[in-house]
Amino acid sequence: MSGKIPRAFIDDLLTRVDIVDLIDSHVPLKKTGSNYVARCPFHNEKSPSFSVSRSKQFYHCFGCGVGGNAISFVMEFNHLNFIEAIEDLAAFVGVSVPREVVLEREAVESRNLSEVYAVLQRVAAYYVEQLRSSVEGKSAVAYLKARGIGAEVASEYMLGYAPKDWQGLENQFPRQELLAAGLLVTHENGRVYDRFRERVMFPIRDKRGRVIAFGARVLDDSLPKYLNSPETEVFQKGKEVYGLSELLAKNGRPKRILLVEGYMDVIALAQAGIHYAVAALGTAASRAHLDLLFRYSSELVLCFDGDAAGRAAAWRVMDAVFLSLKEGRQVRIMLLPQGQDPDSLIRSEGAEAFVERVASAHALSEYFFQHLLTDVSNGDIEGRARLVEMAQPFINKLVEGVYREMMQAKLNALAGLKVAEVSKERPNARQNMPSSNVSGQMLGRVSSARTAVALLLQNPDLVDVLEQKKIDWQLLDFPGKSLLFTLMHKIIEGNPANTAMVLELFRESTEYPQVLALAQMDLQLPESGIRLQFIGAIDRLIEQASEKLYTELLKKNLTDLTLAEKEMLKKMRINN
Ligand code: GTP
Ligand code: MN
Repeated sequence: MSGKIPRAFIDDLLTRVDIVDLIDSHVPLKKTGSNYVARCPFHNEKSPSFSVSRSKQFYHCFGCGVGGNAISFVMEFNHLNFIEAIEDLAAFVGVSVPREVVLEREAVESRNLSEVYAVLQRVAAYYVEQLRSSVEGKSAVAYLKARGIGAEVASEYMLGYAPKDWQGLENQFPRQELLAAGLLVTHENGRVYDRFRERVMFPIRDKRGRVIAFGARVLDDSLPKYLNSPETEVFQKGKEVYGLSELLAKNGRPKRILLVEGYMDVIALAQAGIHYAVAALGTAASRAHLDLLFRYSSELVLCFDGDAAGRAAAWRVMDAVFLSLKEGRQVRIMLLPQGQDPDSLIRSEGAEAFVERVASAHALSEYFFQHLLTDVSNGDIEGRARLVEMAQPFINKLVEGVYREMMQAKLNALAGLKVAEVSKERPNARQNMPSSNVSGQMLGRVSSARTAVALLLQNPDLVDVLEQKKIDWQLLDFPGKSLLFTLMHKIIEGNPANTAMVLELFRESTEYPQVLALAQMDLQLPESGIRLQFIGAIDRLIEQASEKLYTELLKKNLTDLTLAEKEMLKKMRINN
């Protein structure tokens, strides 16, 4: 990568791409009225609630709430980052991506990074070579064979062997990049040596298939059993899972992903033909891990070893699970029998029995309440109070929706509470978020501010109404004022042709989620009513503000008023 992509090019790209053609080439669309619809590609559904608007250059799913412009679609659908999506779209319309000139220092840094990736790739290949053709490597091959791993899986996962050599890497690769890649250890006395020796090597790859780190296992019972690369510029443990790149190479949209605990579990499952397993890297699964996996599949099965540590790990991950759940996402919990892990189990029972266990893993709600009820009983008041105390914080983490309602109802039933008593106390974290599917009939109850922002977002050409009105922004006072103001300025400055382009002006800002939701708000207005509705909403905002000021001024003593305030009051008396 070299240089920033010019803003003008991104605008140009959004003008050239027609979102209907783009999405239709991935998901066949059907025309209904002025929109195009399909079954949503981002969640499972029977009837189509995914809709694409040509005039707004925008898609939206009424089922799971996803939405955005052409860039967002390519990012979500192909699991790409922003830059990758721009490159993809450029290829779609057949243009190449220009780059702005980069600062020298940035160029040096990014070159270093690509050299770090390069060295990691070459070192992984070196370890493979050592496994295959060195004398020492034979013991590692024998070890893998004894664990039932064949050549095909070994090469798919690029398994290797690090020889018993303190300077094996430094003699062949540049020291600076080896250090940056975490492959060397610097001793207190300043001596530098290979981090991994006499171990089976498991390269960890990112979702794009680049080697970013290693896991390494001893061949016997010595300790530590596993060593992992330290965190580096290219490797953050909390954000990566082992085996994802290999999984995606087999199937980009797996029906479900199985999250297991160990490297060898992933490998053994692959050996048994189960190619949808990944492992967290010796840490508890984080919310970032779950969100990452949910990008590729709507169902996660979290599998825990049948020991005390496994049970504890299952409960520890609940925080992350409740935070990452939302409509269209499902988590199930799979607890293995005492003393077993997926590797041992698949070898004792076979793949078919294991797949059956996956299929009958606990629903999250079942596991959650069962676990709580083994700790507390709901037989008496004290127990029920304790149950609510323990469960409620988790339920509060869920986004609002049917699932949360059902979990709440279940807790209430177990604790013998009336629904109203509990829900009264529930903090409503999303109160300030605009709802994404407010229909036209409700328009009367939607605030003028939200209507105004939504209308302007959806029809950026309305900005001339604001320009002509010569609004005194200092006088105005309503929630959403700063958003409306920012939006107006961005539109005047950037001159976006449609909603898709307006969205792009907000992508990096903290207001993006709110803007996205308002862009999707269904105002159900006829084309001819839009301008009038907008003028009406703005007038109401101005009116409300001046009424408020008027009553405030009236409350004051005449002698306390400044000259300007007196002038204002006089003017308002005439108007009111
Ligand atoms: P084996 O079957 O014995 O090869 O191991 P496993 O894959 O079943 O792993 P285990 O269940 O023992 O541990 C789960 C994961 O925890 C491993 O895959 C490692 O990521 C991590 N882990 C285990 N032991 C160690 C250790 O000694 N040090 C570190 N840093 N991580 C470890
Ligand atoms: Mn194991």
